[in-house]
Amino acid sequence: MSKLRIIGGQPLNGTIRVSGAKNAALPLLTACLLTDEKMVFHNTPRLSDIFTLINLLETFGVTPNHFEGDVLELKASSIHNLTADYDLVRKMRASILVLGPLVARFGKAKVSLPGGCAIGTRPVDIHLEGLKALGCSIHIDQGYIHATAPKGGLVGATFTMPVVTVTGTENLMMAATLAKGQTVLINAAREPEIVDLANCLNAMGAKITGAGTDTIYIEGVESLHGTTHSILADRIETGTFAMLAGITKGDLKITHTNLKLIPGVTQLLTNAGINLKEEDNGFRATYSGKINGIDIMTEPYPGYPTDLQAQTMALMSLCEGASMITETIFENRFMHVPELCRMGANITVHGASAMIRGVPYLSGAPVMATDLRASVSLVMAGLAARGETTLSRVYHLDRGYENIEHKLIPCGAQIERINES
Ligand code: EPU
Repeated sequence: MSKLRIIGGQPLNGTIRVSGAKNAALPLLTACLLTDEKMVFHNTPRLSDIFTLINLLETFGVTPNHFEGDVLELKASSIHNLTADYDLVRKMRASILVLGPLVARFGKAKVSLPGGCAIGTRPVDIHLEGLKALGCSIHIDQGYIHATAPKGGLVGATFTMPVVTVTGTENLMMAATLAKGQTVLINAAREPEIVDLANCLNAMGAKITGAGTDTIYIEGVESLHGTTHSILADRIETGTFAMLAGITKGDLKITHTNLKLIPGVTQLLTNAGINLKEEDNGFRATYSGKINGIDIMTEPYPGYPTDLQAQTMALMSLCEGASMITETIFENRFMHVPELCRMGANITVHGASAMIRGVPYLSGAPVMATDLRASVSLVMAGLAARGETTLSRVYHLDRGYENIEHKLIPCGAQIERINES
């Protein structure tokens, strides 16, 4: 298993490139199941989650013709299996995204229930209720979801989501593209990744309007065709790198992205003491001289993303004064707290809120990654801390950050991967 060894205390200065978004790429890749024609994706991040999904798609008969650099080609013209096995689904919950496309195009699918997750219970009941509204019969047997469409295929319907769910909206939007008649998804998620998926589906011949608002209209079509699509920049990587500039007292030009992707974040980061200035092909993030305490509450887009909560907590551990961070999306997303405290942070958790009293400095320590965003928060803390930090269970980090040490080293980070057998 690999570890990261970090010697902290160097300001990060230089240019850093944002990759394509993991959470846009995952639903986009599953959309290949909706057509027998070739799909070509540009700006595809080379992440372990993407390789896990490609493996799963291959078990259905999808051929990944080509994955060089960031260009990935997928073709689902000879599907011979409609079962997503537990062994692959348990590795990555987003595998549930194959359910909507498979049942829409092939009339049935058997997908393992994802099971537990480190950050919360994360049920998929809304995905299933939405498919039922489209006429699907669903039953759970021996840990698997068995979904069967009516004889003539899925039928459009109006479905109100009781909770805003990102992958739930994506699954139902994909399923509805091939349903008969109109589907209306009310209380839909509004994340930029939903808009990216809708744009790609429309380029494949779907008729979707309203993506990016809380009501999405999908007019079903007979079939979809292949297309070429460039995957949206990763807004979570964008926010992470902006905060890295602040926590390391540095100055980073962050490219191949756009501040407009993080509207609920920019003002708060500015208030926290990170100057943000739009530039060609990206923006510049500069430490202003001190980190101020800010209060945040995570919310569905365009609110403050839960996927930036851990990173914000690392930043706030060095603030002047105090900060209150409230997590409203997942019930167990504070696992980075004890690890940050091992590095000298002063954080107290009360239910869904954490009170962070800023400390003058953090000290390097051996720490353990517990989930993807927690791990990057520990990398940030390690880069800011005095002395050496070793981060174990780095596989969590590799799920969502492409070549992180290769991106950070040119900006002055002292970070190396140690491969242990
Ligand atoms: N929920 C239900 N029932 C459902 C679906 C969701 O109760 O059927 C609840 C969840 O338990 C949670 C809330 O709704 O409390 C929101 O969850 P959501 O479904 O939106 O999360 P997700 O679609 O499973 C995606 C991202 C996550 C990100 C969340 C929230 C992907 C592949 N994953 O998950 O990303 O945290 O939205 O923005 O898009 C990450 O990248 O580190 C990550 C965890």
